[in-house]
Amino acid sequence: MSSSMDIKSFIGGMQDLEKHRKFHWTGTFQEYLDVVRENPEVTRNAFQRLYDLIQSFGMEEYVEFKKKIVSYNFFKDPIDNGKDAVFGLDVSLMKLVNVLKAAAQGYGPEKRVILLHGPVGSSKSTIARLIKKGVEWYSHTEEGALYTFKWSIDDADLAKKILGGAKEFVSPMHEEPLKLIPYDYRKKFVEEINRGRKEGHRVAIEGDLCPPTQFIFDALMNHYSGDWTKVIDHVKVTRLLLSEKGRVGIGTFQPKDEKNQDSTELTGDINYRKIAEYGSDSDPRAFNFDGEFNIANRGVVEFIEVLKLDVAFLYDLLGASQEHKVKPKKFPQTDIDEVIIGHTNEPEYRKLQNNEFMEALRDRTVKIDVPYITKLNEEVKIYRKDFNPRKIKASIAPHTIEMASMWAVLTRLEPPKKANLTLLQKLKLYNGKTLPGFTEDNVRELRKETTREGMEGISPRYIQDKISNALVNSKEGSVACLNPFMVLNELEGGLRHHSLISSEERRKHYRDLLQVVKQEYEDIVKSEVQRAISADEEAMARLCANYIDNVKAFTQRERVKNKFTGQDEEPDERLMRSIEEKIDIPESRKDDFRREVMNYIGALALEGRQFDYKTNERLHKALELKLFEDQKDTIKLTSLVSSVVDQATQEKIDVVKARLIKYYGYDEVSATDVLNYVASIFARGDVKRK
Ligand SMILES: Nc1ncnc2c1ncn2[C@@H]1O[C@H](COP(=O)(O)OP(=O)(O)OP(=O)(O)O)[C@@H](O)[C@H]1O
Ligand SMILES: [Mg+2]
Repeated sequence: MSSSMDIKSFIGGMQDLEKHRKFHWTGTFQEYLDVVRENPEVTRNAFQRLYDLIQSFGMEEYVEFKKKIVSYNFFKDPIDNGKDAVFGLDVSLMKLVNVLKAAAQGYGPEKRVILLHGPVGSSKSTIARLIKKGVEWYSHTEEGALYTFKWSIDDADLAKKILGGAKEFVSPMHEEPLKLIPYDYRKKFVEEINRGRKEGHRVAIEGDLCPPTQFIFDALMNHYSGDWTKVIDHVKVTRLLLSEKGRVGIGTFQPKDEKNQDSTELTGDINYRKIAEYGSDSDPRAFNFDGEFNIANRGVVEFIEVLKLDVAFLYDLLGASQEHKVKPKKFPQTDIDEVIIGHTNEPEYRKLQNNEFMEALRDRTVKIDVPYITKLNEEVKIYRKDFNPRKIKASIAPHTIEMASMWAVLTRLEPPKKANLTLLQKLKLYNGKTLPGFTEDNVRELRKETTREGMEGISPRYIQDKISNALVNSKEGSVACLNPFMVLNELEGGLRHHSLISSEERRKHYRDLLQVVKQEYEDIVKSEVQRAISADEEAMARLCANYIDNVKAFTQRERVKNKFTGQDEEPDERLMRSIEEKIDIPESRKDDFRREVMNYIGALALEGRQFDYKTNERLHKALELKLFEDQKDTIKLTSLVSSVVDQATQEKIDVVKARLIKYYGYDEVSATDVLNYVASIFARGDVKRK
């Protein structure tokens, strides 16, 4: 910024005065009716608005294990750059949206508390936050505009009598102005305003005014001897902009200690200063309608950890919110128009399960399960969002986040009943990988046979914390490159003190799963390094051609021409077997395998296509392993673990490193690390093949 900056034009250039003007629109009741006629959507209720908001961002449909699933873009948090995006819970969110849809159409759920229920850290609060943020944002758009009103009395004497001297009185529950139309006229009015409208929203007017606005309405009616047309001249309609910070249309209630739970926090309290003014504690003008239910009218109220509320108080809440009416002290039931969302975690819910009170709860709530993610690729997204190059300084080695996520998901899976399936294989099936002998129907069955899958296990919050720890825990205060072992060690270390792990048996199970993940990691990097070493395309193509020549000769009982000597020789059985053994083709099956390969090539030739070993996964793998075996010794990978490396070896290693960087996402540090690690495995004499 230059010091001679002209602040007025700097800020002035960024201002949007047109928007400001729209936000501060004020009009008469008549003018508001014109707005309604033009755009009846302004009169939607809270559920309709929320449902439309979610719909407005569109959706994507996909099929997973033969089931059609709708994914709503809204839950990727498009209005806030994806900050609170929710992953992997499309099925739960679909249920939630269906409830909102039924509520928007007035089929019943609008009279219930929506209860998000799930294990600790399953994104219940995140979902509630998304909804609150969305509703606030929507009210600031043209499509989501809504209105409220205030009483306004210029005449000083009348103002004194009715408003205690103030000139204006804002509807404390930000009510819809159409509620000012008395019941007797509503039916006809609604018919009239909806006349000829075939599509779009149909205006409806529901509920009474809140006690103080009703009181003022009655007083003015009295004053004008029942002439409504005069009363309505005292109404100023304004645009309503919801704001969590401003406590307008968005409320949050968090239980504190049990003694402090008081219904006034929900439905408002007497204003003692004003009692003197109005002379009675039952005068609604001497009551602050500023409880969480009141201020959240027209929008949404969130009840954090709703079952941590004292049971008696919870009854109050459920009673109060039933039928969407609340009961302020000393006043009649008051209509509310708001979405009520509570959440509770699994342990809390289970504690109360045998309580008779649960009966009442079940009756008044719509429960939506929000489980942990059980699909690896989705779990990975949670941590990629938090730990990415834009946000952290250190680099992260390939597979680090994947391995942490893999462990998290494994802790959540129930052991498969099929004896021939490991937990890791089940994870892979869930993740969309195919395994021989398993169909999509099988995977569906696997899901169906579980009882509480996703409701237990390690929470994303634990993983997030441990990744952070691993990032700052090195001697220098921060690591240059985070690798899977650093994270897995943190995860293991934390298990000892993990407060939510209830038994030693479980702790042991989680430790064992860390070993499963480490083994999987070892397999992955071994295979990557092997591939990087054998990623010499020319050598590979040569080996392949050689193999095919021999197989062809073998199947057709011919001889092969030796390229060096020019002599015809028997097919090289040793070469063929050394390749086939890599993928466990037994001696007894070798004829079949070779014939299959030839048939495959022949079929391609018929179509005029060239054979490419890359399209045949098994053969590709076999060739790779063979090439690796041939080259391993020339590269002397094992010499990496010793500190002296001769120049020729170093050059070869550098080539491999460069391939790891180019093809597998490593950087200088992580590539060196992983080469050392794999070298140490081979130095250990581990020649176990994959
Ligand atoms: N499915 C998910 N998608 C995206 N982020 C998730 C998901 N599940 C958990 N998280 C992340 O985990 C953290 C905890 O989530 P959140 O606080 O919303 O959980 P919660 O269910 O409210 O937990 P609690 O029961 O402890 O109140 C957040 O950082 C959240 O972003
Ligand atoms: Mg929470």
